[in-house]
Amino acid sequence: MSTVPSRKRPLTLHINGRSFGPLDVPEDMMLVDVLHEYLGLTGTRFGCGQGECRACTVIVDDDTPDGSRGPREVRSCITGAHYFAGKPIRTVEAHARRDEAGDIVELSPVQQAFLDHFSFQCGYCTPGFVNAATVLLERLAKAPIAKADVEATVLEALDPHLCRCTGYVRYYQTVKALVLGTPGLVKGDAS
Ligand code: FES
Ligand code: FES
Repeated sequence: MSTVPSRKRPLTLHINGRSFGPLDVPEDMMLVDVLHEYLGLTGTRFGCGQGECRACTVIVDDDTPDGSRGPREVRSCITGAHYFAGKPIRTVEAHARRDEAGDIVELSPVQQAFLDHFSFQCGYCTPGFVNAATVLLERLAKAPIAKADVEATVLEALDPHLCRCTGYVRYYQTVKALVLGTPGLVKGDAS
């Protein structure tokens, strides 16, 4: 039995500060497949493919459904690429600072902290955790929380992300330390 190939439509994506396209992308293709197959951006991981593990998380810097400004996490394995037309996307490749040749010269604070605290094992889930922690820190910079709420806030932010190596404790401890140690994220923090 043959299947009918899906129709293609032109799509321009804005990823990590660059425009890609117009690309001829099938209407039903998920963003993660476009990142991998059209753009060579393979840092975004394909895990369950069903919206459960969040390894495929990207950051979208647009309006959130409640009307407040992004950033927000979006699962690229269950979200069609055409949904992202006109929306600024960040993938894990965006976080480190690079030189003109594209080589990494400095990791982001989240990446460096995960490395310093041995937060990951195989690392397959790490891009999703990096994006989740980055979104959390950026949101807290806009709306600081009380110190008493840090533990629960970190738990809520990371809880949807699955790690098959079960390295949750070090992820959670590292992000909690980052929140407490980054000036301006906690109310009344004098640092
Ligand atoms: S690969 Fe997208 S949620 Fe698991
Ligand atoms: S470190 Fe291996 S899946 Fe999380």
